[in-house]
Amino acid sequence: MAEVSSEKRVLVIHGPNLNLLGKREPEIYGRQSLNEINEQLLERGQKLGIEVETFQSNHEGAIVEEIQAAIGNFHGIIINPAAYTHTSVAIRDALVMVDVPIVEIHLSNINKRESFRHASMIADIVTARIAGFGSHGYLLALEGLVRIIDTKEHI
Ligand code: DQA
Repeated sequence: MAEVSSEKRVLVIHGPNLNLLGKREPEIYGRQSLNEINEQLLERGQKLGIEVETFQSNHEGAIVEEIQAAIGNFHGIIINPAAYTHTSVAIRDALVMVDVPIVEIHLSNINKRESFRHASMIADIVTARIAGFGSHGYLLALEGLVRIIDTKEHI
């Protein structure tokens, strides 16, 4: 595996339909756009001394390719696979290959919703999970991930 550069780098991956955040079912997913969320992440990353890169795709294969390209290039990953959370063995298999801490995040509390959203294909392979905090969850995920990267402390 390639050496990661000394500057800490975190990749944030947003899955399908999250490009429409703000307009899409705002009573469930909130009124912030994805651009606003990404800007906040970059800003918080600067404060924490972390380089944050963001990626969104509506395509499963593109997400798999982004995860593969992340191998050896990032110190941690935050991922909201959106609907692919519940279906994608391919995204799970790609994440298993990445040897860095991974945080799974959802805007909504998926366990409080329809039963098909209760299952996550990645819950048992990620380092930590956040759900139900809306867009603020991304900042919580970043802070938690940076702490894990710095201390290497996680269960
Ligand atoms: C989501 C929850 C998923 O069930 C849904 O398909 C999404 C968003 C969330 O962030 O709450 O697109 O991942």
